[in-house]
Amino acid sequence: MSKMWAGRTAGETDKLADDFNSSIAFDSRMYRQDITGSMAHAAMLGKQGIITDGEAEQPINGLAEILADLESGALSIDMTAEDIHMFVESELTRRLGDLGKKLHTARSRNDQVALDLRLYLRDEIKVIMSEIKALIAALCEKAEENKDAIMPGYTHLQRAQPILFAHHLLAYCMMLMRDIGRFEDTARRMNASPLGCCALAGTTYDTDRHFEAERLGFGEVMQNSLDGVSDRDFGVELMSACSLLMMHLSRLSEEIILWASWEFKFIELSDAYTTGSSIMPQKKNPDMAELIRGKTGRVYGDLMALLTTLKGLPLAYNKDMQEDKEAIFDALDTVKLCLSVMTPMIATMTSLKANMKKAAQKGFINATDLADYLVKKGLPFRAAYKIAGSLVAKCIAENTVLEDLPLSVYQDYSELFDNDLYGEISLETCVEKRSSEGGTSPASVEKQITLVKEYLAK
Ligand code: ARG
Repeated sequence: MSKMWAGRTAGETDKLADDFNSSIAFDSRMYRQDITGSMAHAAMLGKQGIITDGEAEQPINGLAEILADLESGALSIDMTAEDIHMFVESELTRRLGDLGKKLHTARSRNDQVALDLRLYLRDEIKVIMSEIKALIAALCEKAEENKDAIMPGYTHLQRAQPILFAHHLLAYCMMLMRDIGRFEDTARRMNASPLGCCALAGTTYDTDRHFEAERLGFGEVMQNSLDGVSDRDFGVELMSACSLLMMHLSRLSEEIILWASWEFKFIELSDAYTTGSSIMPQKKNPDMAELIRGKTGRVYGDLMALLTTLKGLPLAYNKDMQEDKEAIFDALDTVKLCLSVMTPMIATMTSLKANMKKAAQKGFINATDLADYLVKKGLPFRAAYKIAGSLVAKCIAENTVLEDLPLSVYQDYSELFDNDLYGEISLETCVEKRSSEGGTSPASVEKQITLVKEYLAK
């Protein structure tokens, strides 16, 4: 096939080299953005008199028809084309003849691809943000259902202090709200048009970049043409946001896997989001959560791939940069896929409150509160800590728990102990009294739920 750029060279390129060079297999997904960008460009050429008004109208209509035909299936993308930009332009030329050939005046594929990618990612970011919101809503709803569920809170995966299950779930809502913030930041910085930067140095034509930018919904135009065509920092930023989001999803997945195990049994996953074993009849495996955890590594890999591709590139465009898209698209697809499974998996899981409570009753997670009891009666914290520790050791030796130790034993350790200690170390009191801002008390949890709901409503 004769190349649109044939001229400098006379010989045919090798078939293998053509395939190697081609990006249509993965950049064809940007056809909508490519066509929209080209329509804005044609309109600008007409408005500026670079082509006549009449000459602009036809390619604009022609592009709209190509888009409609692609959407309806009347036209399919030619997979032997070099890339989506070449495909659209050659299809337009096929339909309009010489007029189609005028479209690429005062433009290069270098600013075109930078534009298409930004337009495409702008839409994807919106989708991802709304999917994160759906997950936050599911988590918040679960939190509401579990405002009374006491579970052990852990440090070092050792039982530490009692918390509400709602508090634990809300922690993830907070992380995910920050994740949305990171996607918003990325979108904000990405909101400048590279169109008109041309190959690298700008153009001699009297173009109006602001006109194009405004038509395409950008807030501003990029101020340096070399920068406009050669940086992909927005892709890196976006994948960093994706990586952080995946890190959060992965930690949540890890907890779901633990909670669903027989050792914990704090939750039961819906059958819809588990699998069986081909050999062990008793199994109900949390594969979805494991896959989300697993796919996190893949998204980190995509981020590293782009960073590594860019690190040694001289300005401006280099063909290495064609590698940006597969990494970015894979990260986005993976993130969307994971969110689409995570949300219903959370929404359909059941919490086993009695098991959580039972786990909280063992393990002396009220030992801090026992020490605090003595502190409130006047003992310095370190001394109180020591007494509480000795009492825990005694319980372990005698196979009992703090709640069941008789008052007389307590009083052997300190005269400050009185009957009111049992109320003070009950799990309900321990949770209730952690009413510092952001703590696990029911009042604090209620406040967090309100905050999350307000966030979702705006
Ligand atoms: N397919 C190319 C890419 O994705 C488009 C830009 C080509 N530019 C060029 N000067 N060869 O990067």
